[in-house]
Amino acid sequence: MSRRPGNPARRVAEGGSLPFVGSVHSKSRSSPLLSIGLVVVGAILLIVYCCSGSGGHISEREAFSKLEGSGSCALEVQRAIPILKKTYGDSMRKVMHLGPDTCSVVLKLLKEEETEAWGVEPYDLDDVDANCKNLVRKGIVRVADVKFPLPYRAKSFSLVIISDALDYLSPRYLNKTLPELARVSSGGVVIFSGYPGQRKAKVADLSKFGRPAKFRSSTWWIRYFLQNSLEENEAAAKKFEQASVKRSYKPTCQVFHLKSYR
Ligand SMILES: *[C@@H]1O[C@H](CO)[C@@H](O)[C@H](O)[C@H]1NC(C)=O
Repeated sequence: MSRRPGNPARRVAEGGSLPFVGSVHSKSRSSPLLSIGLVVVGAILLIVYCCSGSGGHISEREAFSKLEGSGSCALEVQRAIPILKKTYGDSMRKVMHLGPDTCSVVLKLLKEEETEAWGVEPYDLDDVDANCKNLVRKGIVRVADVKFPLPYRAKSFSLVIISDALDYLSPRYLNKTLPELARVSSGGVVIFSGYPGQRKAKVADLSKFGRPAKFRSSTWWIRYFLQNSLEENEAAAKKFEQASVKRSYKPTCQVFHLKSYR
């Protein structure tokens, strides 16, 4: 079976910056009305700039360089923790993260007050540092193949966050894994997945993940959720969106919110 490589030429265009008032020609005979108008426009631009900047610590350029590099969604989860806290509130008390590089996410989550965190690493843990080894020794991070039922009871966690791992699963395995996430959580499932055309699958990944990542579009995902009776959590999606705008946070991964099984 031949699989065409994802379109590498396609790039996520990151525009969105204010169209600059490039050149304001100073006319020799400018009317007073015009100068007043310019002052007003200037003031408005200043206000817009200040307000959008307050609280936001992620600059456009920073986000862009993440896009350019092979930034993983595990990194994106860490950046999104304040937004997730705003969105999920109490459901951030008992969090399970699943995905490559889970140790880094779990360590970050454990720094939050009133948050217990666990991690599932879907692939081999090689070259890990002492902190990660420590988490594994304590049983906080486990290695488990996500193609099989997860070693946890129903509703073990208030929130389950998954990053990157789904991009490496075919629909056949997604059919097994996603319901598992809905089963072991009680307050929701958050999915971070790559945008199509955003990253190139690295050859080195192949041996580890078994297959190249397949980045699917949001239309694909939404259709998939519908077909599999996985309900999107619209209230959470809305809260997440609002908190993101407030903090000028622009995720470089797609973020989906699903409901847990009742
Ligand atoms: C996944 O599950 C859906 C819904 O039950 C089904 O329609 C689809 O054929 C399944 N896909 C695979 C590849 O098994």
